[in-house]
Amino acid sequence: MYTYILFAHSWLRWAVFIIGVVAIVKAYMGWKNNEPFTADHKRTNAFLIASIHTQLLLGFILYFGLSSKVQPAFQNFGLAMKDPISRYFAVEHITGMIIAAAIIQIGSIKSKKQASDTQKHRTAFMYFTIGYVIILLTILSAIMTDKMSWFRFEI
Ligand code: HEM
Repeated sequence: MYTYILFAHSWLRWAVFIIGVVAIVKAYMGWKNNEPFTADHKRTNAFLIASIHTQLLLGFILYFGLSSKVQPAFQNFGLAMKDPISRYFAVEHITGMIIAAAIIQIGSIKSKKQASDTQKHRTAFMYFTIGYVIILLTILSAIMTDKMSWFRFEI
């Protein structure tokens, strides 16, 4: 079970990255070109939120139930903080991702409430970009320090 959920969580990052770029580009174009906020924009933003919610769900299952990199921290938090991999997954990863997810979620809600379509695009663009950069930096910091790989091939 652990390996399947980890595999899904690992590959779903690419869905988040790709849908995130599409949503940010569409919001930017919509904002700068004064485009109407269409059903297509709504759908793209809904896909972004759905992909992030799925990552949160899988992440919480790994974090509180399955992950061999996090469970030792529940036994001895102080000791786990001395190990960079445990510290990353027990503290840094979850913190970065929850902050990013909250910013993107708030952006999506605020965007819908704006009076004009240009403001809807602008709000989505601002919040999505900030959340996306946090996700990117959190993941890249782990890849660059060998705490995770670009692609997981083994289950
Ligand atoms: C947009 C949100 C998220 C993205 C893009 C993301 C991405 C990733 C990636 C790429 C990995 C490495 C997988 C591998 O080793 O191949 C990972 C591992 C992990 N993530 Fe996330 N994550 C997200 C949210 C979360 C959240 C909110 C939590 C906790 C509640 C979480 C908990 C974990 C844990 C515990 C691992 C390590 C599992 C293990 O190797 O034992 N993730 N995540």
